[in-house]
Amino acid sequence: MKRLAILVSGRGSNFEAIARNIREDKLDAEIAAVVANNPEAKALDTARSLGLNAISLPSKGIDSDTYAAQVRDALAPLHIDLICLAGFMRRVGQPLLDAYPQRILNIHPSLLPSFPGLHVQQQALDYGVKWSGCTVHFVDAGVDSGPIVAQAAVPIVEGDTADTLAARILVEEHKIFSEAIAVVLGGKYRIEGRRVVRLTQ
Ligand code: GAR
Repeated sequence: MKRLAILVSGRGSNFEAIARNIREDKLDAEIAAVVANNPEAKALDTARSLGLNAISLPSKGIDSDTYAAQVRDALAPLHIDLICLAGFMRRVGQPLLDAYPQRILNIHPSLLPSFPGLHVQQQALDYGVKWSGCTVHFVDAGVDSGPIVAQAAVPIVEGDTADTLAARILVEEHKIFSEAIAVVLGGKYRIEGRRVVRLTQ
């Protein structure tokens, strides 16, 4: 069974969706650890209530590379196949990228490369785009910049606020993250430059 580590910072609805898909046999994997960089993260309570290995590893005041080395060391004994950033709001430092080359996925609530960074639903509204969505991509040293595994689009409607748009996007996030995880764990893809090419056999 392929083993996931899920990194979170807050609410953890994407983590819950992954856990639910595993429970309902829609995703063939197990969650070996849920790591939160914020000790107050609701996701930690959820992980504990699901009987999962919940690790609180605060990142406050620690630089990205030092923190990445701490996460790497915490995960080392767990034989992790894939790391999933599910609302993880810190940049991933080089030691973790080096330990898991092309084995870290992130979900981001915009259609990348539009609107990387923070407050992205507001960015989309302010720009006036008619569609937004979400993206699952491999994590590299840039910000929201690695090869894209999956995307889903949602319309922006009259009267949308950042919150209503975020809620519409989140519904799609909960679907495509597990789909992308299945693709990557299944191994039937090749990365060519920026493109993730699915292989049919
Ligand atoms: C999600 O919308 C996720 O895409 C976003 O944070 C939210 C976390 O929600 N992530 C980022 O913005 C990362 N750059 P959740 O904790 O309920 O999964």
